[in-house]
Amino acid sequence: MRTQIVAGNWKMNLDQEESLQLIDALKKSTFQSQAEVIVAPNFTALSACATALSGSKIGLSAQNMHQADKGAYTGEVSAPMLKGVGVNKVILGHSERREYFREDGVLLAAKVDTALAHDMQVIFCFGELLADRESGQHFEVVRMQLTEGLFHLPRESWTNLILAYEPVWAIGTGKTASPEQAQEMHAFIRQTVADFYNSEIADNCPILYGGSVKPDNAPLIFSKPDVDGGLIGGAALNASDFTAIVNAL
Ligand code: 13P
Repeated sequence: MRTQIVAGNWKMNLDQEESLQLIDALKKSTFQSQAEVIVAPNFTALSACATALSGSKIGLSAQNMHQADKGAYTGEVSAPMLKGVGVNKVILGHSERREYFREDGVLLAAKVDTALAHDMQVIFCFGELLADRESGQHFEVVRMQLTEGLFHLPRESWTNLILAYEPVWAIGTGKTASPEQAQEMHAFIRQTVADFYNSEIADNCPILYGGSVKPDNAPLIFSKPDVDGGLIGGAALNASDFTAIVNAL
């Protein structure tokens, strides 16, 4: 059976002290599900969070990284730097990176290559805009994002990939995809991976849903067969909400 995962993307919220407080609360939480739990604090909090999480089952992810290992890239953070402070996962391709920082498929493919070359697990995000869905282009947009970012990879790489479908119109809007819309797209994603690679890779790949997941809507979304968990934004900033979402899986 493929791994079930709930990951919290804290975005540009919570300074180091606040991050450590949330980690402390999560360590005291009772997670009743078998789901793997991951948190993604901001860069400045990662090192302290890695120390706080050592010996815990909660995984730690960065929210982004540069594609080069080092060099004259003012303001950037590399995979070896992340690994050096104990971070072995990274979120890539988030719609906020695509929109506000102009990250495109070519750049994301390079970032994915670098992360995998450093044996990091990649949470690869993608999803359509509202206009894409309204014009019926959503499946094509998602297929393109997968193709550009991931389909150059050899089969072996897929053991280190987690997919996160996040329709942009559902992120931070309080408007979530219906469980049926999520299932329809997740099934399409799995079929697209099966068609390009094979059904074993597709069946083993976790596909998370992200976009306004809350404790009240998580149970129905997670009940769908191709939804293997969630990537949570706003609700991940609150320990009891996040715990309730994990326990909905
Ligand atoms: P919200 O849960 O706040 O909609 O954010 C989702 C998200 O972007 C997670 O990466």
